[in-house]
Amino acid sequence: MYKIAVIPGDGTGLEQVTEGVKVLNAAQHKFNFKMETFHFDLGGERYLRSGEILPDSVLEELKNFDAIYLGAIGHPDVKPGILERGLLLQLRFALDLYINLRPVKLFPGVLTPIKDKGPDDIDFVVIRENTEGLYAGAGGFLRKGTPHEVAIQESVNTRFGVERCLRYAFEYCRDQRQRQKLTLCGKTNVLTYAFDLWERAFHEISPTYPEVKCDYAHVDAITMWMIKNPEWFDVIVTDNLFGDIITDLGAMIQGGMGIAAGGNIHPGRVSIFEPIGGSAPKYTGKGVINPLAAICAGAMMLNHLGETAAADCIEKAVIAVCGTKLKSLNAGQMGYSTAEVGDLVAEAL
Ligand code: IPM
Ligand code: MN
Repeated sequence: MYKIAVIPGDGTGLEQVTEGVKVLNAAQHKFNFKMETFHFDLGGERYLRSGEILPDSVLEELKNFDAIYLGAIGHPDVKPGILERGLLLQLRFALDLYINLRPVKLFPGVLTPIKDKGPDDIDFVVIRENTEGLYAGAGGFLRKGTPHEVAIQESVNTRFGVERCLRYAFEYCRDQRQRQKLTLCGKTNVLTYAFDLWERAFHEISPTYPEVKCDYAHVDAITMWMIKNPEWFDVIVTDNLFGDIITDLGAMIQGGMGIAAGGNIHPGRVSIFEPIGGSAPKYTGKGVINPLAAICAGAMMLNHLGETAAADCIEKAVIAVCGTKLKSLNAGQMGYSTAEVGDLVAEAL
């Protein structure tokens, strides 16, 4: 019996996770596991109503779950940064979810904007460090609001944080036999402190994993290669901000935000699974958002919980629906409503 905390969050988050839970429920019958879901009211509406973002008591409660299933965070009436920092990043930091795992996989039948590339070419995983770097919140203002204002935002890279992220990446490659190559994505030519540490740690760890082939690419170059030669990549490991940026690019080449999912992971601990697109407020309540990203996040959650057969089967069901039914993966252009897409996947399962 798995206890799953569901945080629908803002905007279209609720519509998305509703379909995800529908598919997870179908999977539990087929694969003989049990799952109980508990909804948590967190996000912009609660903040506007009560001023609360993530009360300590709620954070403590969340730690007792097997996993957290998240819709989306971001509300048009709340100043940017408040919910992102106070809720989403706070959850990542407080639960010490040091890995952000983001598969970039083009499913058969899905359109990619890259001419002449197909599912065999676009199939890699980005492992993004998720608790440090420029996201750590180190820095501040001097003389704020004056003509001599100074704003400093520092990238925090600890040996401990970098090493555990790299080890996760090497182990991920080693354990997935079809993933043999690990590319460190950095900027060693300019960020000569931060990525010096990353690069040294990378080369110190690599002999422990002789079966993994090591490679390196600067972040600017990698955005070029991801478009020109996406087939070069198996697993990319990088820091928090670079990972944020290149995974939006990754989402686009795998067919868009309608399909891109991710996991915020601390192996062996309560982890968060989410569609990586935003709350898409303009589509809220219209039944037009694509729930496949949330459904794929649900599959990643099952994988994390050890229900690998169920996870694989959900992925196959999503592929069947993408390949044969949906006109497009974009909101409003699918040819079906949000709930109908959830039904289609549940039936395919
Ligand atoms: C993501 C998002 C978040 C991030 C935002 C909403 C804080 O863009 O999960 O990629 O920057 O990590
Ligand atoms: Mn992002």
